[in-house]
Amino acid sequence: SGITTIDPGYKNTGSCESAITFLNGEEGILRYRGYAIEELAEKADFLEVAYLLIFGELPTSEQLDKFHTDIKAQSHVDEDVKKILDGFPKSAHPMGVLSSLTSALVAFNPSSVNVDSEEEMYNAIVRIMAKFPVLTAWAYRKRVGLPLDYGDDSLGYVENFLKMMFKKPSGEYNSNEVLVEALDKLLILHADHEQNCSTSTVRMVGSSHAGLFVSISAGIAALWGPLHGGANQAVIEMLEAIKEDGGDTKKFMAKAKDKNDPFRLMGFGHRVYKNFDPRAKIIKKSADDVLDNLGIEDPVLDIAKGLEKEALEDSYFVDRKLYPNVDFYSGIIYRSLGIPVEMFTPMFALGRLPGWIAQWREMRLRKEPIGRPRQVYIGETKRAFKDINYR
Ligand code: CMC
Repeated sequence: SGITTIDPGYKNTGSCESAITFLNGEEGILRYRGYAIEELAEKADFLEVAYLLIFGELPTSEQLDKFHTDIKAQSHVDEDVKKILDGFPKSAHPMGVLSSLTSALVAFNPSSVNVDSEEEMYNAIVRIMAKFPVLTAWAYRKRVGLPLDYGDDSLGYVENFLKMMFKKPSGEYNSNEVLVEALDKLLILHADHEQNCSTSTVRMVGSSHAGLFVSISAGIAALWGPLHGGANQAVIEMLEAIKEDGGDTKKFMAKAKDKNDPFRLMGFGHRVYKNFDPRAKIIKKSADDVLDNLGIEDPVLDIAKGLEKEALEDSYFVDRKLYPNVDFYSGIIYRSLGIPVEMFTPMFALGRLPGWIAQWREMRLRKEPIGRPRQVYIGETKRAFKDINYR
């Protein structure tokens, strides 16, 4: 084939040029469209950041209003989608449900598939921005047996999502501002991260012109894995397991370092960051603030802090430049907001949605070719066919 070298896991391979997210893993810098993540988390809201990522500039208030109005106009999901959801067992993992339903949305929105012009792309984008939060809330409501329902379009994007999740049949829900702000910040921090596994998947699927919704559906599947977005669920399960076991963090540190033990310290290490993940710093502070504000004492927060301190002083982690990543503290916040553990990775997906969209749109506008890597063949050389009786 002429290919002689490979790069497993694409550790050192650039797949595209991109003007969306700047990441310097050595120094721990993350910027969306040139704006520091710290500043965006502090001053912007999630919908503004979504607009920034997708369209390249912070919106004026008119642009933001229009974007929100267009989204609200699409915030219904065809009633027949409920029948599909109904076919899943209650125990189905919501990430699988979400990936399937996002793919199913194509059938109900056929105009979203063959999109070439910017206007067609825009229409597909507002549809998925509108309908994905509904699907996420429904995946949760189905799991806990609540009626599938809508929120309230007079609310902001994130507050409306919280209402869609938690609204009781009586219409009641907890509209605490602390919850809305904390979730908004978490979604901003997850909104894009250049060519990670799920984003590369979205661009790869989209490169065959398969359409935005199925590309996102594939991204959701990629995000599900515990080495990627699934880590946030894995972290809280690990912290709970340490607590149940008596809280001996040293024992789990030893397991993580033992090369014969598959256990890894979940929420630690990153392909690109060889320094503090800037998102982890913001989330750690936010975890403290949110728990304080809500008056919650969560013993796993102390376990997490203890583990972090030990790891940062341990030569195994220091030598390998393993630092806490975005998922290390996020689960603790999600849990304090009342979001159950199996919904942690769907929350990541909701946050990453604008990033996936922005990357897909950039790929299409730049008219990138279909993704098609090569290989180095290591199988048999030519051999003669053997009849079944002689095998
Ligand atoms: N615990 C113990 N050892 C680790 C860990 C960990 N969490 N992470 C990496 N290592 C070791 C690994 O064993 C290897 O050691 P050695 O050089 O002796 O073989 C070395 O560090 C390099 O690791 P790698 O697996 O070659 O690095 P990678 O870039 O392929 O993997 C990673 C990156 C994030 C998959 C990995 O660090 C990991 O599995 N972390 C735990 C899961 C996790 O928290 N994932 C979330 C990532 S951030 C959010 C997201 O992407 O969604």
